[in-house]
Amino acid sequence: MERPSPPRPSSRIAGFYQRPLAERVATVAALGDGALSPASAAWLRAGGGLDLATADRMSENVIATAGLPLSLALNLRVNQVDHLVPMAVEEPSVVAAASAAARLARRSGGFTGDADPSIMIAQIHVDGVDDAAGAPARIAAAGPELCARGDRAIPRMVARGGGCRDVACRVLDADGGAVVVELGVDVGDAMGANLVDTVAEAVAPRVAELLGGEIALRILSNLALRRRARATVALSAEALGGDALADGVVRASRFAELDVARAATHNKGIMNGIDAAAVALGQDWRALEAGAHAYAGMSGRYRPLATWRRTPDGVCGAIELPMAVGTVGGGTRTPGVRAALELCGVTGARQLAVVLAAVGLASNLAALRALAGEGIQRGHMRLHARRLAAPAAAPPAAPLAPPSPPTPAPADGGAP
Ligand code: MEV
Repeated sequence: MERPSPPRPSSRIAGFYQRPLAERVATVAALGDGALSPASAAWLRAGGGLDLATADRMSENVIATAGLPLSLALNLRVNQVDHLVPMAVEEPSVVAAASAAARLARRSGGFTGDADPSIMIAQIHVDGVDDAAGAPARIAAAGPELCARGDRAIPRMVARGGGCRDVACRVLDADGGAVVVELGVDVGDAMGANLVDTVAEAVAPRVAELLGGEIALRILSNLALRRRARATVALSAEALGGDALADGVVRASRFAELDVARAATHNKGIMNGIDAAAVALGQDWRALEAGAHAYAGMSGRYRPLATWRRTPDGVCGAIELPMAVGTVGGGTRTPGVRAALELCGVTGARQLAVVLAAVGLASNLAALRALAGEGIQRGHMRLHARRLAAPAAAPPAAPLAPPSPPTPAPADGGAP
């Protein structure tokens, strides 16, 4: 069950992009308890980042930390709740694009969406099963026993209300005796990879007893088909900039629906926003990428994850994709990720999944609108010019006093 959202600060901060960096930091740090805890505000005021001791615990052979700008995408409203969306990304236009599209969407109430319960799939791959065709029935008969065995391996998750929900078996190659046993595991607010791998390894020996053959792989599936998120948005043609742009967005959607080469770029634009937010929010963005592209190809043909249609007065867009994200465990424990999650203001993994789906749809809308209108290069080049204007090897800066160059593109969607 999702918890209700506590009151959130507005994600609309007029003129944010025009303020000097130090003022943006002060504004966000001062948003107060509804947005940032005192510890996170202090982290932000101190310039953010990751201390070396924490970095050393997170990975192997650490020698330093690598940096990315941490930005805020503004204006996002999802299911009547405002969300500031932290993004860590090197491509200059991603934040501005998502913010601008979210601002357009806000005029008609923002995005709506929902996410499935957090069911991940544990796969146990078995080879050399003599009676492969009979395997599904044998596994079905042992379902409760297998779930109980899986649950015993993850007692803390079971205590939090998660655990193994069901078991199924698919025959992959009847002649070769290859089958896969799949457990659905509710991982609650976790991303869940470790939990699911633990279940797969705990249940596998019993599967071997039931089916014979040889246990091969025991691992989660990154095609998180039972953990999908959806978002939709409707905009008037007037909000988009006119009927020609509305037609252009729908035509661009159709192009991606008809052509795989275009669908790949269309989906890349969607993942621009999702990945940038996922990195800032401590998510396994490689898992999100794997799931998104496998899902896009599931029909046998690679398809766009988001599509757009005309409505009587404008356009509506819809996105659906697997969204295995978590708000506890994994990479969510560092101070920067805690601060990012607080800013995003989600109450749990399902709400985060919906927010990320909406960010993907906003990113897609911004790209299609630009492509249908003036083209992508003008805005891109404005932002690239800003990057080139930056000194090539600036010395380490004091946290809050970098020079603030004039900002050429409106990262809050062009608000006065
Ligand atoms: C660039 O990073 C993303 C776009 O190519 C996406 C698209 O073409 O839809 C602009």
